[in-house]
Amino acid sequence: MKTQAPSLRQRLSTLAALSLLTATTCPASSELPSGSGCAFDLRPGEALPRLTLTDPGNHGWIIQSSPDLLTWSTAQSLRVFNGSLRTSILADGTGGTRYFRALHVPTPDAALSTEALALNLPTPAANFANPLLPPAFLVPPISNQDNTPANNPVTNAGATLGRVLFYDKRLSLNQTVSCSSCHQQAHGFSDPAKFSTGFQGGLTGRNSMGLANARWYQRRAFFWDERAATLEAQVLQPIQNATEMGMTLTELETRISAEPFYSTLFTKAFGSSTVTSDRISRALAQFVRSIISTNTKFDTGAATAFANFTAQENLGRQIFNGQIGPATCTACHGTDNFVPGPAINNNGLEIPYIDKGVGAISGRAQDEGLFKVPSLRNIALTAPYMHDGRFATLEEVVEFYNSGVVDHPNLSPPLRRNNQVLRLNLTTAQKAALVAFLKTLSDTSLPTDARFSDPFRYGP
Ligand code: HEC
Ligand code: HEC
Repeated sequence: MKTQAPSLRQRLSTLAALSLLTATTCPASSELPSGSGCAFDLRPGEALPRLTLTDPGNHGWIIQSSPDLLTWSTAQSLRVFNGSLRTSILADGTGGTRYFRALHVPTPDAALSTEALALNLPTPAANFANPLLPPAFLVPPISNQDNTPANNPVTNAGATLGRVLFYDKRLSLNQTVSCSSCHQQAHGFSDPAKFSTGFQGGLTGRNSMGLANARWYQRRAFFWDERAATLEAQVLQPIQNATEMGMTLTELETRISAEPFYSTLFTKAFGSSTVTSDRISRALAQFVRSIISTNTKFDTGAATAFANFTAQENLGRQIFNGQIGPATCTACHGTDNFVPGPAINNNGLEIPYIDKGVGAISGRAQDEGLFKVPSLRNIALTAPYMHDGRFATLEEVVEFYNSGVVDHPNLSPPLRRNNQVLRLNLTTAQKAALVAFLKTLSDTSLPTDARFSDPFRYGP
């Protein structure tokens, strides 16, 4: 049996005590679809309340005002696109005591959900297809590490569709989580939390991976344990993962088909409005491949013999390259893209490994602790570090390589010397220099580049 919601007057009377000027009320939570919320708050010194709405279902809301709780007139019509809206209430100019209430309009108003109203997309479409790449990216080895398949090249319209999908919370069952919840632009498309929170509050088993330059990786495979052979296969997995987004591909297609603006976006990307999970996968993969980071202090340096580096950064670069001291970082974080070549590696984090990485899939002892390493580009933005997020800072990572590598039977050869685990024995100044070098790999435009940002309009 449905619990009787308190009457409007009861709810208002409790709130009226908060202010002499205004009283406010939201629909009872039992009257709202799951995942929706409504709250007013009145700040000191402000005569009118502010309203915060959460409504992943793209519904309309009406704000009404009344002088006496008897006659109500509509003060504002609002629409929530993809999540949340925060707005100030408009006054109607009559002064005196005002009461406000928010009403939820349950039927989605298809007419309002156009590309122009719901999305903030540039015309013509942003350039994703022809990024300006530094010279080193155009020749081997990096050019050979490009995992773009011949049948899914990046197009401007395809990556634009991928961008909208990447930020759309409807990709998760209860419409609370999007790809961007765990791959945040400001954090190099990674998650500052050790483990990420899925749609029902559950935690992922591993640290989220930064996505910049995922396009270049010689072994092509994706995830820490490389269990997805292609990016096209990978992007559908979080959507179906029971902790992350909890959807089926059929539900996904139904839901995306129901959103009017997607017909326009699918037509531009693929020539017709038909929504299929294959097209969703292609578009998401195109967007992820277009997240390219080449605008760093390191890139400027690579073109100018590192004249732009401080003495400390140059020392760190030489330690990283093995020109000063015994470090072998480039053996596993090589090229101007800082990724391994043909090998997948064990860097001796622990013994035994709690998370066996590739070994958990193959069941073979010789695969225990083998993990993919994403590019070190933007590494200063993607803390915490390693598959389990065990290190909070780059200083901790450097100290680990300096003195903490564990003698695991699968430890990759570059981390051994004369049958012993390699100890770097760096001085405090050298460790600080190595950290300073790693910070030159941060992109100065990527964290705020509008092409990769949330395209949803959250306003009315
Ligand atoms: C709830 C958090 C969460 C959500 C939502 C999520 N991811 Fe991830 N993502 C992760 C975690 C954690 C990993 C590493 C998992 C592993 O290796 O087992 C990961 C790994 C990846 C990788 C692998 C990168 C590489 O270099 O191998 C890609 C690509 C990726 N996610 C893209 C996406 C896309 C696209 C979406 C939306 C469809 C998405 N993710 C949604 C948490 C999330
Ligand atoms: C033998 C190969 C190897 C060498 C040499 C190596 N690394 Fe790594 N590195 C890895 C692997 C493998 C991982 C991921 C391990 C995991 O998460 O289980 C990793 C992870 C990292 C990470 C964290 C990446 C992230 O996204 O969380 C940083 C930073 C890093 N290494 C820096 C360095 C530095 C600096 C050096 C040199 C002092 C170095 N590495 C030497 C293989 C290596």
